[in-house]
Amino acid sequence: MRRAHALALRQLATTNGCAGPPVFTVITLALILAFSSLQGESHFRHARHPMTSQSQISAATPADQPAIEHLLDLGFGLTRRTKTSYRLREGAVAAPGLSQVIRESALGVVGAISYWPLAIGAKGTPALLLGPLAVHPERQNIGIGRALMEYTLQAAKKAGHRLVILVGDLPYYARMGFQQVPEGQLLLPGPTDPKRLLYLELVPGSLAEAHGLVIAAHRYAG
Ligand SMILES: CC(C)(COP(=O)(O)OP(=O)(O)OC[C@H]1O[C@@H](n2cnc3c(N)ncnc32)[C@H](O)[C@@H]1OP(=O)(O)O)[C@@H](O)C(=O)NCCC(=O)NCCS
Repeated sequence: MRRAHALALRQLATTNGCAGPPVFTVITLALILAFSSLQGESHFRHARHPMTSQSQISAATPADQPAIEHLLDLGFGLTRRTKTSYRLREGAVAAPGLSQVIRESALGVVGAISYWPLAIGAKGTPALLLGPLAVHPERQNIGIGRALMEYTLQAAKKAGHRLVILVGDLPYYARMGFQQVPEGQLLLPGPTDPKRLLYLELVPGSLAEAHGLVIAAHRYAG
């Protein structure tokens, strides 16, 4: 059921991304909810306000930035900029096409995700840093984070990216296939709990090509 649910969410993302007919979206959501309640298993089961046909994934625009910053303050607190992952974003430009948001009429931006180009080790092996990913406290646990990740990871793969890393909670990201990086294989430019340094291979075997210090791609001198 989880697989069917994930596929339906992906289809929802794709449909919305292509501005498909709203009636299709409504039917898709109705089917997800019907199947989910039949199976007793759903990301919607905790929903106070389930995702609706308004919950569309779309590209983040410069006008979204203040709302995204507010969302990140809510999710990670005001000290978030001291985190090691922020060192990897300083002066960098987000990976094109992968900064996506979900906006709703009542709350505005309720979910946001972005990715950042990295270079790893002496060879400068390319990879992406996933994050930050944040969902509005009023809209958590209804599948927004998962939908944003599924949509963007698929887009990253299509764009030819091979490897994604992040610093985050394994129990959450394992649902999308992330695993812990073997201790000592990658080194981040700041303190990092090795249990929270995670990777996902978009191309099988891509982690084996990555060893050493992880830096922002624009800082790689070659
Ligand atoms: C973490 C976050 C992005 C998840 O997004 P979301 O849209 O709420 O999550 P989803 O709806 O996709 O998934 C919900 C499921 O993930 C679980 N989950 C959420 N956060 C989790 C975490 N940090 N660790 C383990 N499981 C988690 C929920 O319990 C729920 O489980 P269920 O499906 O078994 O009921 C969101 O809660 C958030 O922005 N939190 C604030 C920032 C934060 O705490 N980040 C820590 C992760 S790095």
